Amino acid sequence: MSSRRRTAAAAAAAAAMLLVLTGILLSENLPAAEAAAGGGELRMKCSDDDYSYNHTLAHILVQYASAVYTSDLTSLFMWTCPRCQGDTKGFEMIEIIVDVENCLQAFVGVAPDPQSIIIAFRGTQEHSVSNWIEDLFWKQLDVTYPGMPEAMVHHGFYSAYYNTTLRHEILKSIRWARKTYGRLPIIVIGHSMGGSLASFCALDLSVKYGSQEVQLMTFGQPRVGNPAFAAYFNEQVPRKIRVTHQNDVVPHLPPYFGYLGEWTYHHFAREVSL
Ligand SMILES: *[C@@H]1O[C@H](CO)[C@@H](O)[C@H](O)[C@H]1NC(C)=O
Ligand SMILES: *[C@@H]1O[C@H](CO)[C@@H](O)[C@H](O)[C@H]1NC(C)=O
Repeated sequence: MSSRRRTAAAAAAAAAMLLVLTGILLSENLPAAEAAAGGGELRMKCSDDDYSYNHTLAHILVQYASAVYTSDLTSLFMWTCPRCQGDTKGFEMIEIIVDVENCLQAFVGVAPDPQSIIIAFRGTQEHSVSNWIEDLFWKQLDVTYPGMPEAMVHHGFYSAYYNTTLRHEILKSIRWARKTYGRLPIIVIGHSMGGSLASFCALDLSVKYGSQEVQLMTFGQPRVGNPAFAAYFNEQVPRKIRVTHQNDVVPHLPPYFGYLGEWTYHHFAREVSL
């Protein structure tokens, strides 16, 4: 319990820092929401393994992917935020990680249904959007993935996960959760840019804990690597679903950045769309 209290204090401190940050950077409008809800029929692409899309699960996970945008970190930590109800009731937050310098936010906690460790990444917000976009257009695929000479990834997403506080804190929280609750499966989720960070995290955890222990679900996610990377990724992270922006669960999320779809990266398999 002292560990939880310590984390709560850290979250409160982070909340203070984040408030300062949002105070300075407010009011650059997000691009118009693109995620119009629409009818239609679900299609699966590349269904070459036995991990299949579960709509009920997607509806639960989208709540977590959305809750991570909550800027009131106290209500997020206590799980009383507007997105912290219904299907996600009973979620126990372990840690909220806020990297103020890089404008990143993620959390790790334990969900009752499906009983699992949930790791959620926020997409980038407000001011940082233009930086990311610029970055993506001009510096695509400029890092060789370690141990994979042919696999190139985008350095922005790569270092946002590997070269910030995120990875260290996430691994620490998973160790704590598994020591406390046993060997729970791990579900990694993220929306938009958060989906890209979630992908690197899921790959990292699959290599570390075994690919059957880790599931990945992303919503409206930009591509992170070249075809060689995608192939490597597919092999290492078989349990993954990319829900694209036309899907009816995505409108439950903060605005989707429509132009992300224009990019030239190679998506990994198992796309679900309308
Ligand atoms: C889909 O997910 C829900 C929520 O975790 C679960 O209760 C249900 O059994 C799953 N359905 C299938 C077919 O796996
Ligand atoms: C990681 O961070 C260090 C220090 O902030 C920096 O010098 C280095 O270039 C970064 N590496 C990558 C791959 O971005």
